[in-house]
Amino acid sequence: MRVLISLSCLMLSLSALAAGDPKLGKPLHDKQCVACHVKLLGGDGSAMYTRKPRLINNATALGQRVAACSAQTNAGWFPDDEAHVAAWLNQAWYKFK
Ligand code: HEC
Repeated sequence: MRVLISLSCLMLSLSALAAGDPKLGKPLHDKQCVACHVKLLGGDGSAMYTRKPRLINNATALGQRVAACSAQTNAGWFPDDEAHVAAWLNQAWYKFK
């Protein structure tokens, strides 16, 4: 039973990445997320996603992190928006399968 539940969670989170559209995610991310990462790390802020060790090591964690950050920043995003941003971050930087 427990295996079944964790399996379906995994499938949900994978489909959350797959369901997102990176093209829609990038402008949302640029608007709500980049400035703070740039302030912290300089450049275009992408060092946040390429540093070693990274905080985020799988698709589930990426989806959760985007949701937590969007809640913290009062971005007013819908779950679809979070999926778009997660999909863009994954396409551009994380490359989880
Ligand atoms: C007010 C500043 C701030 C804003 C705004 C912000 N972040 Fe972050 N973000 C951080 C900090 C600080 C960390 C590093 C946390 C740590 O190391 O524990 C981080 C880390 C991350 C990471 C993990 C990087 C890794 O190590 O793999 C992701 C993903 C991320 N942020 C996504 C977002 C998204 C998406 C948004 C917009 C909804 C956002 N952040 C907005 C400050 C911010």
